[in-house]
Amino acid sequence: MISAHLTIDPHFVVGPINRRLFGSFVEHLGRAVYEGIYEPGHADADEHGFRRDVIELVRELGVSTIRYPGGNFVSGYRWEDGVGPRAERPRRLELAWHSTEPNEIGLDEFATWLDKVGSEMMYAVNLGTRGVEEALDVLEYANLNSGTALSDLRIAHGTPQPYNIRMWCLGNEMDGPWQLGHSTAQSYAELASKTARAMRQIDPDLELVVCGSSSGQMPTFGAWERTVLEETYDAIDYISCHAYYEPLSGDFKSFLASAVDMDRFIDKVVAIADGVKAVRGSDKTINISFDEWNVWYLSRYREVDRVSGVDSWPVAPRICEDTYSVADAVVVGSLLISLLRHADRVTAASLAQLVNVIAPIMTEPGGPAWRQTTFYPFAVTSRLARGVTLDVTLDSPSYDTDRFGSVPVIDAVATRDEATGQTTVFVVNRGMEEEVTIDIDVRQLGSVALQEVQSLHDDDIHAANTLEHPDRVGLRGNQSAILADGMVTLQLPPVSWTALTLG
Ligand code: AHR
Repeated sequence: MISAHLTIDPHFVVGPINRRLFGSFVEHLGRAVYEGIYEPGHADADEHGFRRDVIELVRELGVSTIRYPGGNFVSGYRWEDGVGPRAERPRRLELAWHSTEPNEIGLDEFATWLDKVGSEMMYAVNLGTRGVEEALDVLEYANLNSGTALSDLRIAHGTPQPYNIRMWCLGNEMDGPWQLGHSTAQSYAELASKTARAMRQIDPDLELVVCGSSSGQMPTFGAWERTVLEETYDAIDYISCHAYYEPLSGDFKSFLASAVDMDRFIDKVVAIADGVKAVRGSDKTINISFDEWNVWYLSRYREVDRVSGVDSWPVAPRICEDTYSVADAVVVGSLLISLLRHADRVTAASLAQLVNVIAPIMTEPGGPAWRQTTFYPFAVTSRLARGVTLDVTLDSPSYDTDRFGSVPVIDAVATRDEATGQTTVFVVNRGMEEEVTIDIDVRQLGSVALQEVQSLHDDDIHAANTLEHPDRVGLRGNQSAILADGMVTLQLPPVSWTALTLG
């Protein structure tokens, strides 16, 4: 039996937790939109063709902001195709994912769906094949009250009130050679800067996200961020981070420590942003929008999924439909710990994605919707991580990984909500063999009681929820927790994620 020790002190605050940390992402990719959120022929579809079972699950997941409409998709997208009478909307070749885009869902329909799930829109503009003018157009259509050509067009399409979208992404992953309109840091930065300044002519208070690198492993990582920030600093508010993790070559030890990579990635981007700030002598701080993160079996997608030729690109093909295991859910829980630990600088984030495509929610056409394993740590963290993140002190044994060297077996973060008096500890055991006993010193919290202790764990770390067995994996109450004399003692099974609330 090995042990770890954690100390929580409510006086040591990292920063407030922005609700936007619990955002997600819906791209016109595979079956995310069509057969995912929208399936007009389904028995459970509402008057707009949206699946009610999916709406319920998205609400249960507790998603704050939803990034739309892409992703790689946005870099070839004409937003005008997706508004107005459906019968007149064009079908287009969708170059990013080699699909056919029917344009049955666009900005107006997506905004209607967002009202139903209770989430905020984060809209990405196309800076791949388009530019300043189209960004201004979609902003005018979405956010102006009335009295201009495009705001009146929105009204004519049936939406009198503007959407008042606050967060806008200036393109997507423009550093990636796969991206339509892929460019150098300098030319992207100039376009992003011009676009941002033009958009601010309409509304100076927009919150604008400039593209960072599409991963911390890109050859241009670092130099890209520096160039882009030097050019855009005064015009934007956030720089994006994207990261996906998978057990490469079956290396689960490194995979379970993916949050180490996320921590380092965030720290580097913060350092670059603050370096640019220092050189400029600026008072403004640029925060991070971690607007794509998840476990993604990307190497499998590259091997098998892409359609070739141009004659028969399918509508809503089954691509990027990963089935998530217990181990994947533990990694998702640990990535949430990393995001919370950086709550002072990561003030928005999007789990990529939401339905069917690398998603916590799956659907079958004409059939059920169900929760993947990864649904659970996200839903619980979104519900319980309120108020501020606390800077905890952790003493944990370590294990060796091929990718990240020696890493702590246990990782943890705590949050505290002054409004309810609740403190929640999120903790993972990333070790594959041994149970860990953790002592949590909560004496500084004063008089508290255990309220809720739930773990995600299974003896089979590859167990998953599927169409046939949708409830194979779920949360379990962790009965091992004991609170005595200001000390919580808790057993953490190998490869497990736990949330423990005191109040
Ligand atoms: O989320 C899937 C894809 O991953 C997005 O379209 C792209 O931005 C990223 O490479």
